[in-house]
Amino acid sequence: MKIWLLTLAICSFTILLSCVAEKPEETTKVTTSVQSPNEDSELALLMRFMYDDMYRVKAELEAGKRASLEHDPKEMFTAEPTDSAQVSTESYKAFGQAYIAAYNAFHQAGQANLKGHFEVLVQNCMVCHQTTCPGPMRRIENLYFDN
Ligand code: HEC
Repeated sequence: MKIWLLTLAICSFTILLSCVAEKPEETTKVTTSVQSPNEDSELALLMRFMYDDMYRVKAELEAGKRASLEHDPKEMFTAEPTDSAQVSTESYKAFGQAYIAAYNAFHQAGQANLKGHFEVLVQNCMVCHQTTCPGPMRRIENLYFDN
């Protein structure tokens, strides 16, 4: 009985360690994902700027500051994409409009509600990515406050 318990304890400890150990590896993967700059589309560059902008604001909100976003979300509809099939769909338009609405709501929100509105914004990133471009979703998850 005791040995069984010990084995269980060791196993769960190992599992716990592997989860903890995975984190730093993930973040290095995230920060080193720079691809050949010449081939990046306008939309890809805009998205990267949006990510960095969101990351900065997340840190400022965590520090209890009031922060505003600098990217212009309307450019999602004018920037040249890598693949026009990704942005010519009805869902891209609908998700893009929803994102803009969430962006405006964030900027109109009072200090007490900023974090909540920020999370809604991240959700809007994720929802569009689910159908148009799932690749960056792991990275976008970093924008949630508990990550
Ligand atoms: C309306 C849909 C939509 C919304 C909303 C959206 N994205 Fe994107 N995102 C795309 C598409 C499509 C691409 C692929 C662009 C390309 O390759 O030209 C992309 C690409 C990216 C990339 C990869 C860029 C690269 O390096 O190639 C990142 C990172 C990204 N988005 C982050 C975000 C973040 C953060 C948000 C929210 C603040 C967001 N996206 C909101 C559709 C969206």
